[in-house]
Amino acid sequence: MGKRLLRALAGEAVWPPPLWLMRQAGRYLPEYRALRAEAGDFVSLCTTPALAAEVTLQPLRRYGMDAAILFSDILMLPWALGQGLRFAEGEGPMLPPIRDAAGLATLDPARLPGAIAPILEAVRRVRAEVGDAALIGFAGAPFTVACYMIEGHGGDFAEARALAWRDPALFGALMALLTETTIIYLAAQIEAGAEAVMLFDSWAGLLPPALFRRHVIAPAAQITAALRARSPTVPVIGFPRLAGLLLGAYAAATKVQGLGLDTAADPTEAARLVPATMALQGNLDPLALVAGGAAMADGIADILAAMRGRPFVFNLGHGIVPLTPPEHVADLVRLVRAA
Ligand code: CP3
Repeated sequence: MGKRLLRALAGEAVWPPPLWLMRQAGRYLPEYRALRAEAGDFVSLCTTPALAAEVTLQPLRRYGMDAAILFSDILMLPWALGQGLRFAEGEGPMLPPIRDAAGLATLDPARLPGAIAPILEAVRRVRAEVGDAALIGFAGAPFTVACYMIEGHGGDFAEARALAWRDPALFGALMALLTETTIIYLAAQIEAGAEAVMLFDSWAGLLPPALFRRHVIAPAAQITAALRARSPTVPVIGFPRLAGLLLGAYAAATKVQGLGLDTAADPTEAARLVPATMALQGNLDPLALVAGGAAMADGIADILAAMRGRPFVFNLGHGIVPLTPPEHVADLVRLVRAA
């Protein structure tokens, strides 16, 4: 008994597997676009509990996924620390870049509790309404968040990656601050009602192995150990995107209960690298969901065949893209449920 997602994350080979989709709330849904227009800007949407809760629940009403993921963004942590943040239409996130000690000094952890209060209120509201679905809280992992904070926008993060080599002390100080505040932020989400938490390291795969160990594996191990000490029964899902051959080292060091596989990861090979009790999550190409039809059905069948008999959570290999036809998501849910 118990919620299907939580059973899989506890190591049970639940079948058909529980299912949710990264970025399941978002611009591909007309009801999201309507609410987004009402809120005005993205940060207001994230910090107005009634709206954030409503957007979180929209995909569950349509499709009945096994999990809701809190509607927020990984960049709400820098925002809560005092870094400016805006989402320009069609351009993605924009922040005033932090590239020296003076920039770092503008970040103020004392602002955190007040700033995240409305986000935690959204968690409470969603938890009261999720029913049989599980509520997933989340944060960006320190490296990916640092990339945006240093660069000031998305892209290849050349400035951020060069800074990690050029000024390890400054880069390390930012990483330490993010690691510490991410623990506080995720622990607060758990206290407010999150039943699992996910750590998104979307740009982990940009690092060479030595820096991957220092800036991806070590902080994730620190965060998972701290959360485990406070809330031993709440599972953590790690997503070190494009970790490649270092997936096994990440799994061993962090002991995450769930490991998110990116689109490029071969599920069978990944399963050889991790303990048999660790749930894998993933990893249909989001573009297969855009295409739909027989090609998507084949992609889903391949993943299900590889993961049958082990703890597994069906998901995409990265977030849903805005041009996804909503009816293809309904087809995906039907196909996975028929496994
Ligand atoms: O449904 C969900 O998955 C929950 C909400 C969620 C959002 N962002 C909402 C969002 C989650 C879990 C995230 C995580 C996130 N945000 C990541 C990690 C996962 C990944 O996709 O790699 C990253 C790197 C970000 C940073 C970010 N936020 C970017 C690069 C962008 C712009 C690109 C885009 O897709 O628009 C955002 C904006 C954003 N975050 C939107 C949503 C729904 C679109 C904002 C809008 O409505 O205009």
